[in-house]
Amino acid sequence: MDHDRTQSPQKMTLPALQEQARRGSKIVMVTAYDAPSAALAEAAGIEIILVGDSAGTTVLGLDSTVAVTLDEMLIFTRAAARGARRALIVADMPLGSYQISEASAVENAIRFVKESGADAVKLEGAGRTLSRIGAILDAGIPVMGHIGLTPQSATLLGGYKAQGRTAASGRRLVDEAKALERAGCFSLVLEAIPPPVAARITETIGIPTFGIGAGPACSGQVLVWHDLLGLIPGQKPRFVKTYADLAGVIRAALDEYVNDVRRGTFPAEPHTYGMPEAERQRFEEQPSPRTAKTEVPRA
Ligand code: KIV
Repeated sequence: MDHDRTQSPQKMTLPALQEQARRGSKIVMVTAYDAPSAALAEAAGIEIILVGDSAGTTVLGLDSTVAVTLDEMLIFTRAAARGARRALIVADMPLGSYQISEASAVENAIRFVKESGADAVKLEGAGRTLSRIGAILDAGIPVMGHIGLTPQSATLLGGYKAQGRTAASGRRLVDEAKALERAGCFSLVLEAIPPPVAARITETIGIPTFGIGAGPACSGQVLVWHDLLGLIPGQKPRFVKTYADLAGVIRAALDEYVNDVRRGTFPAEPHTYGMPEAERQRFEEQPSPRTAKTEVPRA
């Protein structure tokens, strides 16, 4: 992948991703839910922007991702796609948008591509998801799989817990990864699984893997925008590395703004619009409506 920003942007393709993984050159993915964030991610040379349904917790203030709607995801995806020209845009299909029937899964995946500018969609799970993947692929839309901790089915998994921590469950994850590759996924997210299991999956299947809490052997990594940038103070999953304290930076800026407004030091002259002196004088000479004498009509 060429990261020279002086060259015209070249859209990331699936064969280019596959080739990058084959060369052992790590692929970077990050979530984004709006145009300026997607533009910043792309400027940093990030290959894939995932419009994750994590938007439910990071942007919408929900407790989990399960209540995120298709319409909300379509808006987030459209915004992110407007901000990026080169990165691959992958839209997360929210709970309920692909479970009901093959027909509605295909219809909703098509909406992401046609209305929102997504290049591909992501679906959680294996099992029943496999037939949906085939149907969406038949419509010409690439699919990214997601196994391990799948937040849309966290209740079924017993909570937000690491998966594949026993030999048998690790083996099951390898089998699921193979099934998702056979179903036609172009890549897989591996969430919250022990590194040896992720390493086995990555060496067993022929498509790129993206780890989030899955160790360093994956073809690439993905992190959630707000976690990576420290936008939401508080406890984070073990797998998060926070690269900045943007919440702190934003809070300091807001405190300064509040002080400026209260002290009257903002706005200052550079933040205001000028008026020709002659116009100003004419304006000042006009009687103000409050002091002007009102003509009282005679009876
Ligand atoms: O919704 C999301 O952001 C995701 C990532 C955590 C992979 O699915």
